[in-house]
Amino acid sequence: MTEEDFITHAHPTTIEKDVVSSVAPSNIALIKYWGKYGNQLPENASVSFTLSNCHTKTTLSYQKKDSEGFDFSVFLDDAPAPSFEPKISTFFERIKEYIPFLEKYSFTIHTTNSFPHSSGIASSASGMSAMALCLVRMEQQMNPQMNQALVTRKASFLARLGSGSASRSIEGPLVVWGKHPKIEGSSNLYGVPFPYKVHPIFENFQDTILLVDKGEKQVSSTLGHDLMHGHPFARQRFEKANANLTALISVLESGDLSEFIHIVESEALSLHAMMMTSRPYFILMKPNTLEIINRIWAFRKKTGTSVCFTLDAGANVHVLYPFSEKEKVRSFIKEELSAFCKDGAFIIDQAGSGAQLL
Ligand code: PMV
Repeated sequence: MTEEDFITHAHPTTIEKDVVSSVAPSNIALIKYWGKYGNQLPENASVSFTLSNCHTKTTLSYQKKDSEGFDFSVFLDDAPAPSFEPKISTFFERIKEYIPFLEKYSFTIHTTNSFPHSSGIASSASGMSAMALCLVRMEQQMNPQMNQALVTRKASFLARLGSGSASRSIEGPLVVWGKHPKIEGSSNLYGVPFPYKVHPIFENFQDTILLVDKGEKQVSSTLGHDLMHGHPFARQRFEKANANLTALISVLESGDLSEFIHIVESEALSLHAMMMTSRPYFILMKPNTLEIINRIWAFRKKTGTSVCFTLDAGANVHVLYPFSEKEKVRSFIKEELSAFCKDGAFIIDQAGSGAQLL
């Protein structure tokens, strides 16, 4: 599909007012997206596990209006959240071509996250995908012939325009975003479910998020992506990410956990290596991030388990492990790793199936 296919040509039925709600999860990338061009297009393809417990619930109330321009108010946990307004304005600006009635309604947006606001977990993937799904559902209410497949795809397409990684939160449990020669149907415009055979060892894959630093990110991912322009290792990084995705296709099929670990940990460290070698350079890992990584390596060596880590653009550590190792790894996290988390906090999560309308 092309960008043109997401423009609505049919004249929508007019609805005076209504309410739509959705819930959308966060996701954790195995192959990382870091670097973009044009209109939120990724420099390399990425793949992630959609999560289940870390999610955002959004309710969008809309009412017809006569005035020009966007009109919305936003609430987080029922309290006014004016700090979200610039992000939503930018999002509306980017998607208005595809949601023709955006300026014809006043919106009240109520949003709530299942994870604490100050957990250092980015809410942009879950928040943008929840909002995108509400808007496409609203379009479907006015245009009932819009089929479910298009609703799902367009939700991912719009979510991408809010935050690139959000395109991977509409479906699950493994979603690819970015055109890749070995992945049929993959696109720079939206996420698609990983289309090939996946070994049962990856079913209900576990992700426990260790909250090392609950503060606001020191460097936004928008700035981080920007720093890949003119980065001395950009070209090699994009090629390596695509090659890692090629390698991951057969690993996901065969269930080769040792190769899985190698690819996933190397991707996490490459992401942070890009940050450490950009201009300006920056470091998002904290001493406890490194302590946890070293302890995961030691535990894996000692026990022969297949636990590994990945990182997003922050200090928190995502501990990944198969469902069959749940008891062993959870005790290790509780007894050893939680001491390196802020207030001992961690969030237990696992691969999930994506966003839903409520
Ligand atoms: O979606 P953004 O623009 O916040 O970028 C997120 C990038 C990473 O989380 C670091 C990697 C990824 O692929 O999710």
